[in-house]
Amino acid sequence: MQRFDMILKGGTLVLPWGQEQADVGVRDGRIAAIGALAGAEAATTLDCAKLHVLPGLIDAHVHLREPGDPAVETIETGTRAAVLGGLAAVFDMPNTAPSITSSEQLAWKRDFVRGRAWCDMGLYVGATKKNLDDLGRLEAEANVCAVKIFAGSSTGDLLVEDDASLERAMRSGRRAICYHSEDEYRLQERRPLYEGGGPHKLHAEWRDVEAAFLGTRRLIALARKTGRPAHILHVSTAEELEFLGRARDVASVEVLLNHLTQTDEAYDRLGGYAVMNPPIRDARHMAAAWAAMANGTIDVVGSDHAPHARANKEKPWPATAAGLTGVQTIVPLMLDHVSAGRLSLSRLADVMCAGPARVYGAVGKGRIAVGYDADFTLADMGASRVIEDSWIASPCGWTPFAGTRCQGWPKGTVVRGKLAMMEDSVVGEASGELVRFR
Ligand code: DOR
Ligand code: ZN
Repeated sequence: MQRFDMILKGGTLVLPWGQEQADVGVRDGRIAAIGALAGAEAATTLDCAKLHVLPGLIDAHVHLREPGDPAVETIETGTRAAVLGGLAAVFDMPNTAPSITSSEQLAWKRDFVRGRAWCDMGLYVGATKKNLDDLGRLEAEANVCAVKIFAGSSTGDLLVEDDASLERAMRSGRRAICYHSEDEYRLQERRPLYEGGGPHKLHAEWRDVEAAFLGTRRLIALARKTGRPAHILHVSTAEELEFLGRARDVASVEVLLNHLTQTDEAYDRLGGYAVMNPPIRDARHMAAAWAAMANGTIDVVGSDHAPHARANKEKPWPATAAGLTGVQTIVPLMLDHVSAGRLSLSRLADVMCAGPARVYGAVGKGRIAVGYDADFTLADMGASRVIEDSWIASPCGWTPFAGTRCQGWPKGTVVRGKLAMMEDSVVGEASGELVRFR
């Protein structure tokens, strides 16, 4: 008699090689068997007969704000939101207060995560002009998913904008560096034009297509010069997507859920709750993002979950804080895109699990296969639900998607063989672990 800790019974598995209806047996936190497990016993059996079993989805781009302001978000609340939204792991950005830029701060964060995280976590380390030559050492530290470079300024004080410093960063280390790519010089040059304020849609005019495209052209030229892989975060323009499709020798591509879902009509409807960097743009760019989904240019889809206090979102533009919550809503909204026929469940597993695992080199993540971590997102494609502010676990308490109906909903989350969420409730205790990277 085969014995497992958990059996996921009768679900439609989203495997790398296609969809199959089969059981999954889990032992010691890992996938131990895939197939017909009719005679087997397990401490826990999850009936997945009406569900799609996806590999545990990963949001490779979240800002959980700790250390920072616990009234906005913490690691505990942000990872609780993640598992409620169907995610098995998140990679946490370093632009906290203070920013995470040293060994000591990484050690603090590693220690702090234990017992507080509901899902697994990878940690970014931030580049500053003072740690450029240490980046190779920092990226090799345990649980670091990547170095993050803000080549254009956004929330927080991290910024490395000039070619000489960027080249020095690229020459220290060898893993893919993640970039916020908006040309800082162009942003600063255009800023005075907008000091008088105005409607929120001016955000997309100030931080225009050329700011993003110029930033990306500069970074790719330096990446080629130094031979250093570049992962361009939140690519937001048709121009960059076309350009990066011809730069696969050095480049990989992240696109955000927001840029696949919202266009500039959102500024009038949502005001400050539509303001993020890089900005939400017009329908031409959204169409290009879906074309890049279809043609394989996109490696990763993330949320850029960036909670802010309501008071800061409601300041008149340009003082409006930039950033939108998203860690809890990315899976429901991507499942809705699947239901609408915009991508397949296989492509969803590619951009939210295999893609992040490949780009960042996450160990044991990326696919449903024997020996891999027993991380699963259980999707009910028959469920239809409306996203509400009241469902949001982040203390800031808002989502730009309140009122949006989703066809398809995450019903459960399994993290390394432990049920972390079922039907809107977190289960057990916060037992997320730090992800290991190659
Ligand atoms: O809109 C954004 N918000 N873009 C970023 O690059 C940072 C983020 C934040 O941390 O608030
Ligand atoms: Zn971000």
